[in-house]
Amino acid sequence: MKTIITYGTFDLLHIGHINMLERLRALGDRLIVGVSTDEFNAVKDKNSLYSYADRAKIVGALRCVDEVIPENDWQQKRKDIEKYSVDIFGIGADWQGKFDDLMSHCEVVYLPRTPSISTTNLKKVLSKIDDTSIKKIKQGLDGVLEIVKALE
Ligand code: CTP
Repeated sequence: MKTIITYGTFDLLHIGHINMLERLRALGDRLIVGVSTDEFNAVKDKNSLYSYADRAKIVGALRCVDEVIPENDWQQKRKDIEKYSVDIFGIGADWQGKFDDLMSHCEVVYLPRTPSISTTNLKKVLSKIDDTSIKKIKQGLDGVLEIVKALE
C-alpha cells in the first residue's frame, strides 16, 4: 500500500485544493491530509475564516481524502512520515524546494498549482463586496457546510 501525505490550511475550499488533493491521491492508495490548526495558523500569520474543526470536517468529507490529522507545528512532518509509513510527501509548487530535507525519509513531490485561484484572492474579492452580498455568499457557504455534514 502506497501512502501519501500533504499539509495545508484549506480555508474556503476551492478548485485548486480539490485538484491538488485528487492528483496526490492518484499517486497511491491512501491520502493523509494534515490540516493546520488555528493555533498553528497564528504562528504562520494566517487567519482562516473557518475554524480548524470545520476545515478538517470539510477536507475529511472529500472522496479523495482517507484521513485528516491536525498540523500543529513545522517539525511534525518527519514524525508523521514514520508514524504513518508514508511513501510520498506532496505539496504545491509554491513550496518548491522547501521540504527537500524530507527526501531522506520518503519521496518528495511538488505539484503545479491550479492557476488564478487562492484563498487569499477569494478573501480579497469577498472584502470588496457590500454587506448584503456578503450575507448571501456566507449563507451559500454555510449551505455547503450543511450538505457536507448531512453526507457524513
Ligand atoms: N493549491 C493549489 N492550487 C491553488 C491553491 C492552492 O494547488 N490554486 C495547493 C497549495 O499548493 C497547497 C494546498 O493547495 O499544496 C493547500 O494550500 P492553501 O495554502 O491552504 O491554499 P491557498 O489557496 O494557497 O491559500 P492562501 O491563499 O491562504 O495561501
